Parts: sequence; structure tokens; C-alpha cells
Amino acid sequence: MVRGVHYGGACAVLLAAAVALGLGARGGAAQLDDKFYDRSCPGVHKIVRRVLREAHKADVRIYASLTRLHFHDCFVQGCDGSILLDNSTSIVSEKYAKPNNNSVRGFTVVDDVKAALEKACPGVVSCADILTIAAEVSVELSGGPRWRVPLGRRDGTTANLTAANSLLPSPRNNLTMLQRKFAAVGLGDIDLVALSGAHTFGRAHCQFVTDRLYNFSKTGMPDPTLDGGYRALLAGSCPRRHGNRSALNDLDPTTPDAFDKNYFTNLQGNRGFLQSDQELLAAPGATTAAIVGQFASDEKAFFRSFAAAMINMGNIKPLTGGQGEVRRNCRRVNGS
Ligand code: HEM
Ligand SMILES: *[C@@H]1O[C@H](CO)[C@@H](O)[C@H](O)[C@H]1NC(C)=O
Ligand SMILES: *[C@@H]1O[C@H](CO)[C@@H](O)[C@H](O)[C@H]1NC(C)=O
Ligand SMILES: *[C@@H]1O[C@H](CO)[C@@H](O)[C@H](O)[C@H]1NC(C)=O
Ligand SMILES: *[C@@H]1O[C@H](CO)[C@@H](O)[C@H](O)[C@H]1NC(C)=O
Ligand SMILES: *[C@@H]1O[C@H](CO)[C@@H](O)[C@H](O)[C@H]1NC(C)=O
Ligand SMILES: *[C@@H]1O[C@H](CO)[C@@H](O)[C@H](O)[C@H]1NC(C)=O
Repeated sequence: MVRGVHYGGACAVLLAAAVALGLGARGGAAQLDDKFYDRSCPGVHKIVRRVLREAHKADVRIYASLTRLHFHDCFVQGCDGSILLDNSTSIVSEKYAKPNNNSVRGFTVVDDVKAALEKACPGVVSCADILTIAAEVSVELSGGPRWRVPLGRRDGTTANLTAANSLLPSPRNNLTMLQRKFAAVGLGDIDLVALSGAHTFGRAHCQFVTDRLYNFSKTGMPDPTLDGGYRALLAGSCPRRHGNRSALNDLDPTTPDAFDKNYFTNLQGNRGFLQSDQELLAAPGATTAAIVGQFASDEKAFFRSFAAAMINMGNIKPLTGGQGEVRRNCRRVNGS
């Protein structure tokens, strides 16, 4: 019944009644449905795929960037498209939070997807769902798993810069901190390890690794958990002095743009890029180490767990039913 909101006024009245009865305020996840747009926008998957393939011709990194955008959306007040909102009189954008500033990207491609969808089915597909579908399509087109994406999220009308700064994990977090931040949004060890496997594609700036190369935890020494050969390779791109903090490195130097299990075999060779990556295996007594080992030896197991974890992450506090809105422009709250 909640789905009927797309089909007309009568259903909207029923919906309002349901919300009034408190039905709309339930956990939410149960109301997402992979068939949500089957009648209201049947071409949605095809359209997203077409726009992403086109964008990929000019930017091989875009699939990785879009996958990350969904993550940075969901960890901050749920998967509500809040990360897409620009500064305005009513919005302090999350784009300038420390984990996002000059780092998250792909916004113009999201705009292109939204424009194509507004043409095909005006006012129907939320920006939060666009990010969710784009992440799945990106992984699939990079050689990773495919899965049915639960849909029906609505877009939020607020952003929270403080939350973006405090809730998103830092590359210098230890395993305990990573587990705490994931647990705060209902994600466990298997989710943490599987989702970190997204660092099998995409790029990272030197600024996130220079301390590991030269002065780890203010010891004046490299991170002891970093392989010497890999350290030398990274030092070439990220010199100690007079280097370019914004120079880019492959997160997975073996197959930079393919979605595969090499992230985990890299960790086994002490070739994780970020401290937060290597922590999954190297932290003393790590409960995550066995999961890394399993995914390193069994790509199918990784793919299955990754798909399940993406669905879990996509279920973080979605707005559904009559909550929020479907933004016309992903960068702005309607009517502002
Ligand atoms: C576990 C905690 C995590 C930390 C600390 C972390 C941190 C980072 C950092 C620092 C970068 C490099 C950013 C830059 O240089 O601008 C990065 C890139 C990336 N992250 Fe994560 N990340 C985490 C989890 C995840 C998750 C859960 C996903 C998705 C499911 C993800 C997907 C990506 C991707 C695809 C890139 C490359 C993006 C691009 O090339 O544009 N990360 N991450
Ligand atoms: C947006 O607002 C934030 C916080 O006020 C500020 O730091 C940032 O520079 C602004 N960015 C733009 C592009 O206006
Ligand atoms: C974001 O990055 C720009 C360019 O590096 C910098 O000038 C600005 O101060 C940063 N903003 C915040 C809020 O950190
Ligand atoms: C923003 O996020 C912070 C940190 O999670 C939280 O304490 C605060 O209540 C949030 N603000 C709003 C207006 O939701
Ligand atoms: C992890 O980091 C937190 C915060 O920096 C710190 O309090 C804690 O002692 C660290 N835990 C371990 C096991 O290193
Ligand atoms: C390492 O960093 C710390 C703190 O930033 C600094 O005090 C120390 O001198 C550095 N050590 C070396 C060898 O650069
Ligand atoms: C630093 O690296 C970035 C990313 O590759 C590049 O766009 C920028 O031009 C470089 N800056 C300098 C001063 O070389």
C-alpha cells in the first residue's frame, strides 16, 4: 500500500492514514522492496546503467567513486541522500566534512542520472535510491557481484556536518574504533570486512599514507605492518618532503579498476593501503583476521558477503512512505 504513493491521490490518503497510525514510522528496512519502481519507473535500472557506462568512458574511476558516495551517505543519518545537498540558506553541506572534502566525487554523474530519470519518470526516483542503484551497477560493471537492490528510500530534507565528521570512519582508526563506528549503524565484523573489500578499486591521496611511510604514530619509523616493497613503491609517488599530498594512488595496485578479492590477498602480503585496511588482519587478536583469510581464498564467499553487506548498509535508517520527499534536484531540498 505504501508503494501506492506514486500512483495517485487516493493512495496518498491511505498512506497518510497509515503514517498517522504509526505504520510509517517503523524500522523502515522492511518496507524497502526491489520491485518498488517496477510500475512507476520500469526503466530505472537501465537508465542508471546507461548514464554510468557513458560517464565511465571519460572517467575509469567513476564506479569506485559512486560506490563510496553511497557509503558516505548511509553512515550519516541513514541512506537519505544527505551527502548530495549543497550549501544553502537552510543546509550546511556534508561535502565539506573532513572525510568528504576534496575526496568524495561523482556528484555531476549523479546529476546526470537524476536528469535522465526526471525525463523518463518525473518526481519518482529518489536521490538516495539513485546512489544505491549506482553502487550496485558500479560493482557489477567492474566485475563484482550483482544483487537485487531493495528500493523505496525517500530523500531527507536535512544534512548534518557534525555527524559526517564524527560518524564516518577515519583511515587512522584502529580496529576497535572501526568496529564501534560500524556497530553504531548496526553493522558487524563480516559487514566491516566485506565492505572494506570495496578498496579493491579506486584511488587514494598520498596524505592518507605518508605517515605510514615515514613517521607512523609519531615513532619516526614506517608502519611495521607495511610490506617493504610496497612501501618503496608508495614512497615513489608520495615523497617525504616537497611531495604532492594530492597525488593519487591505486588502492589495489594489482588490478586497480577490477572488483575482485585482491584487496584481501594484498592484506595477506601486508600491502593494505590504509592503516584501517591493514588493521583488519594485523590488529593483535583481531576477530576480523579469519574473515580476511576466508575472503582471500574464496572470491565467491567475498562476493556473497559483499552483496549482503551492501544491502545491510543500504538499510540504515531509510526514510520511507510519507517521510522526506523525492528531490527534483539532488543538490537541493524541493522548494528551496
Ligand atoms: C572501513 C572504514 C573505511 C575507511 C577508513 C575508508 C577510508 C577511505 C579513504 C581515506 C579513501 C581515500 C580517499 C581519498 O584519497 O580522497 C577511501 C577511498 C575509497 N573507499 Fe573507503 N573507507 C572505508 C570503508 C569503505 C566502504 C565501506 C566503502 C564502500 C562500500 C568504501 C569505498 C571506497 C572506495 C571505492 C574508494 C575509492 C574512491 C575513489 O576512487 O573515488 N570505503 N576510503
Ligand atoms: C559550505 O559551507 C561550509 C560550512 O559553512 C564552508 O566551510 C564551505 O566552505 C562552504 N562551501 C562552499 C562551496 O560554499
Ligand atoms: C576543503 O579543502 C579546501 C581545499 O583543500 C580547503 O581550502 C578548505 O579549507 C577545506 N575545507 C574544510 C572545511 O576543511
Ligand atoms: C547531528 O549529528 C550529531 C552527531 O551525530 C548529533 O548529536 C546531532 O543531534 C545531529 N543534529 C541533528 C539536528 O540531527
Ligand atoms: C584504539 O583507538 C582508540 C582511540 O584513539 C584508543 O582509545 C584505544 O586505546 C585504541 N585501541 C587499541 C587496541 O589500540
Ligand atoms: C614524527 O612526527 C612527530 C609529531 O608530528 C614529530 O614530533 C617527530 O619529530 C617526527 N619524527 C621524525 C623522525 O620526523
Ligand atoms: C597533485 O596531484 C593531483 C592529482 O593527481 C594533481 O591534480 C595536481 O595537479 C598535482 N599538483 C601538483 C602541484 O603537482
